[in-house]
Amino acid sequence: MAFLLLLLLSSLPSSLSSHPSVSATPKLLTKSNNTVHIEWSGVPSPSPLDWLGIYSPPDSPDDHFIGYLFLNSSPSWPSGAGAIHLPLSNLRSNYSFRIFRWTADEVNYRHHDHDHNPLPGTRHRLAVSGEVGFERAAGPDQIHLSFTDAEDEMRVMFVSGDGVESFVRYGLEEGRLDRLVGSEVRRYERKDMCDSPANSSLGWRDPGFIHDGVMKNLKKGKKYYYKVGSDARGWSDIRSFISRDSGSNETIAFLFGDMGTYTPYATFYRVQEESKSTVKWILRDIEALGDKPAFVSHIGDISYARGFSWIWDEFFNQIEPIASRVPYHVCIGNHEYDWPLQPWRPGWSYGAYGTDGGGECGVPYSLKFKMPGNSSLPTGTGAPHTQNLYYSFDAGVVHFLYISTETNFLKGSDQYNFIKADLESVDRNKTPFVVVQGHRPMYTTSNEVRDAPMRERMLEHLEPLLVQNNVTLALWGHVHRYERFCPLKNFSCVDTASELKAGGAPVHVVIGMAGQDWQSIWEPRSTHPDLPIFPQPERSMYRGGEFGYTRIVATREKLTLTYIGNHDGQMHDMVEIQSCHTFQDNGGKVFVEPTLLWYVEGAIVLMLGVFMGYALGYLTRCRRDAVQRATWTPVKSEET
Ligand SMILES: [Fe+2]
Repeated sequence: MAFLLLLLLSSLPSSLSSHPSVSATPKLLTKSNNTVHIEWSGVPSPSPLDWLGIYSPPDSPDDHFIGYLFLNSSPSWPSGAGAIHLPLSNLRSNYSFRIFRWTADEVNYRHHDHDHNPLPGTRHRLAVSGEVGFERAAGPDQIHLSFTDAEDEMRVMFVSGDGVESFVRYGLEEGRLDRLVGSEVRRYERKDMCDSPANSSLGWRDPGFIHDGVMKNLKKGKKYYYKVGSDARGWSDIRSFISRDSGSNETIAFLFGDMGTYTPYATFYRVQEESKSTVKWILRDIEALGDKPAFVSHIGDISYARGFSWIWDEFFNQIEPIASRVPYHVCIGNHEYDWPLQPWRPGWSYGAYGTDGGGECGVPYSLKFKMPGNSSLPTGTGAPHTQNLYYSFDAGVVHFLYISTETNFLKGSDQYNFIKADLESVDRNKTPFVVVQGHRPMYTTSNEVRDAPMRERMLEHLEPLLVQNNVTLALWGHVHRYERFCPLKNFSCVDTASELKAGGAPVHVVIGMAGQDWQSIWEPRSTHPDLPIFPQPERSMYRGGEFGYTRIVATREKLTLTYIGNHDGQMHDMVEIQSCHTFQDNGGKVFVEPTLLWYVEGAIVLMLGVFMGYALGYLTRCRRDAVQRATWTPVKSEET
């Protein structure tokens, strides 16, 4: 026995016989994104596989880390000592940090993350730090705004750790927040999650309490100051927003899909590092607007938490700089909801619907946001209903309609009836432009085949509604690239400039390039099998495989959509659509014939687009060989 023990000890790394240590300071952080300094020493025979585990709550099992970093991210790691500086999000429970040795023969490729990198082993724990917490762990945190159904209101939501009665104080002067409203509180439980990892001990963490307050009787287009919290627990910093102005002759919005979350550590899924740039540039744009109202539109695949609860916390911390200033609007994507037993799962959708929601079944999405309208469907599990499915609002001169591609949209469904009634009731005198948004695209030239049966149904059931009701723009996500089509009707370009009586033909644009990568390539062409950009059918006017977002600026006369690249914050594509205000009285019904003088920049922009498309295709190919020289950050050409 003694011999066996000796043998066992001698087989362990030498580090176990020395005294490695790890410490984390300060012990108390003031607020999310404050940095903790983690230092270690005494690690003998350092190995590139030595790693730091990040834990919250601090007593989590060794293999239930929220994330990890290899010690060799510190330049001094070969000495056995080093430091890592890590910004932390307030997860409403303390953190601790542990150092492990992971040996090459313990690498298990069957226990891997989303990138097929093996997850680090926890067999040899070398040291454990003390705990790190937040001064006000109970919050309030994660402040975000949204429109309600009333023009003179603004909703603000935030999270607390204890659900204590909380309020919103607001007013027109920063030093005089003389109005007060309470907040409703709700939360969800582990049993409300429908599958793993969301309902497993690995993915579940307490999500806290979600507060929902509505500021009322706001004057139009004014700068309001506000803070959330309570005298008992403390208040947030004072924030401000510009209230809605239904009479405004200008509309500004920032729109994208599939953004996701950046975390300063590796975790069980690939995170979306580029999402940081998207938020950065949009914040720049919002700050440049001064006192003009604007809003953000994130059309599905929102945090990519996929059942790992703390990613939602990281996401809301990440967007807070923009979402606490302008309304942040969303629609549902596959990564919020997708689940094999979801209630609506027609036979043809087999293959389209899988396990992309990580067992969340839309519950965090439904409770963490509250969009206008009251669309709701049972989850089928007894959990809170799925909400925020379809709704609309006017913002200045544009009517925005959000739809759900994840639930029934076929003729006869509640959603179909809503879409039809909504589009038919738009007052084009008030809002000459109509923008429809949903997650999975009706049109794409990506070779993604999984959703083909869904696209067929969207074309059959929804495109006629878009065409008949003269929808200006149809924006989609899901494909992690930018692609702008001509004004389309049944796959054909409609020259609206010369066919005024042809009826509407929406310009479709895929805008899922805000952060998530991994995307199937464009259809290969036999003569250019190695170039992902080919072939580009006539209807596809511009394709970009780079990260970014879009910006709408609309006046009563013209709507301009621009594509901003994250690598430089500059415009890389643009379409301008004009309304000629040709009002006709058709039996008492006033409507506007849309004059889509598309591509006002005409041949210049068109040729620039085609050139850029070819150039980007070339660059994408080049980058595969020379990544280091690239200034763009390309998405990966791989299937999810
Ligand atoms: Fe998606």
